[in-house]
Amino acid sequence: MQSTSTPLASTPSPADNSSAPADSNQRKVYVKTYGCQMNAYDSDRMADALAKDGYARTERPEDADLYLINTCHIREKAAEKVYSELGRLAKQKAKAEPGAKDFLVGITGCVAQAEGQEIFRRAPVVDLVVGPQTYHRLPEIVSEARAGRRVVDTDYAIEDKFAHLPRPDRKIVQARGVTAFLTVQEGCDKFCAFCVVPYTRGSEVSRSVAQIVAEAEALAEAGVRELTLLGQNVNAWHGAGADGRQWGLGELLFRLAEVPGIARLRYMTSHPRDMDDALIAAHRDLSQLMPYLHLPVQSGSDTILKAMNRQHKADDYLHLIDRIRAARPDIALSGDFIVGFPGETDADFEATLRLIENVGYAAAYSFKYSPRPGTPAAEATDLLPEEVKSERLLRLQALVTKQQYAFQQGCVGKTVDLLIEKPGRREGQIVGRSPWLQPTIVDAKAGAIGDIVKVRITASEANSLFAECIQG
Ligand code: 5AD
Ligand code: SF4
Repeated sequence: MQSTSTPLASTPSPADNSSAPADSNQRKVYVKTYGCQMNAYDSDRMADALAKDGYARTERPEDADLYLINTCHIREKAAEKVYSELGRLAKQKAKAEPGAKDFLVGITGCVAQAEGQEIFRRAPVVDLVVGPQTYHRLPEIVSEARAGRRVVDTDYAIEDKFAHLPRPDRKIVQARGVTAFLTVQEGCDKFCAFCVVPYTRGSEVSRSVAQIVAEAEALAEAGVRELTLLGQNVNAWHGAGADGRQWGLGELLFRLAEVPGIARLRYMTSHPRDMDDALIAAHRDLSQLMPYLHLPVQSGSDTILKAMNRQHKADDYLHLIDRIRAARPDIALSGDFIVGFPGETDADFEATLRLIENVGYAAAYSFKYSPRPGTPAAEATDLLPEEVKSERLLRLQALVTKQQYAFQQGCVGKTVDLLIEKPGRREGQIVGRSPWLQPTIVDAKAGAIGDIVKVRITASEANSLFAECIQG
């Protein structure tokens, strides 16, 4: 699971197989998703909003009348990919038959928010630009664009976009599978010096308990068994609970565990400062909460953590990990790391490797530092040469790969619950998820999609596990 991309960005999102059957005259939207799980969730919501306006989702870009690119601005590479894709689309549009003039291209997500109008200048092929806070207005925006007016909508809408989004059709939810994302919180107030999120996604906003529970119930009724609660800083979620008290994420997880049909809960991404006692207790006491935690630390050097404005030291993080492991000894940990932050010395980097040795990760995502416009770190002058960053990234990834391999090997021989998710690539096989998020291949007789079955792990290979059914 080690990757140079955002956590799970390389995992096919539920969006990838969620198209409803479409008739040939119906308008069709193709949504290309970059970036994190929040973008995968948003892409589905955009498709839901457009479905009410008569658009069917297609997985074939060549069939689309509307081509949306839901973008990521977190690192330079992610943003630049969008412009190379737009270059390709411009050529496609230029070559199109005259009757195909209806083809619209829209940029949504964080690049839209960060660059707004500038996108039209750099890429005239674009017809509409919509930020993450206003995608509920997509149907009107698309109509305007069809009438020949270019639209930019990057407001922080006063109205609650979630309240304006339609409930997805039951069939569409079913086609997306038995696991689903549910955004509970958006934005971030932490202002890490390298990060664009507080600027592109705005300040922290928590959705209400009632709204979250209603969405969870609708998903569960359509057959969803596992929910991953999403937020840029998800463990900062808070809200008024049903008992009149102020709840944090721990209490919310307990409430969601009561939703009939929901068997598994996960959440991401968390900041170490916001791991409170109630959330740690949920890892001990709530059996539906899966033993997996993505808890980025970014660096193991206090000097760099300070320069990053992370608001914690390396030791704070290690003590926190101890408390979490005391609550849930079998928890798998994953993290994010940035190598080559301005001013990072060899000793700073060694401290990061030591922290990794100390923690023992089941997975990790690591990135070379890339300056992002508008962030405090982008002003720094003590930048590191590219070769140094590359060399450090390789060393860090080699260590994490070793740990990931050891973690996977450690699973062999264990008896675990598997949530069956989809047919396997080979006839007679079916794929489920282990509690630790590993895809696990088992004989199709083990159970049907949506079942939770007991299996014994027999082997570990690359990123998957193999398992055998346990009789009785
Ligand atoms: N350069 C490199 N990596 C970054 N991340 C965020 N901003 C940057 C940047 N400017 C990484 C962090 C974060 C993850 C989602 O992306 O590790 O946790
Ligand atoms: Fe970005 Fe830091 Fe907020 Fe994470 S906690 S979204 S890295 S500012």
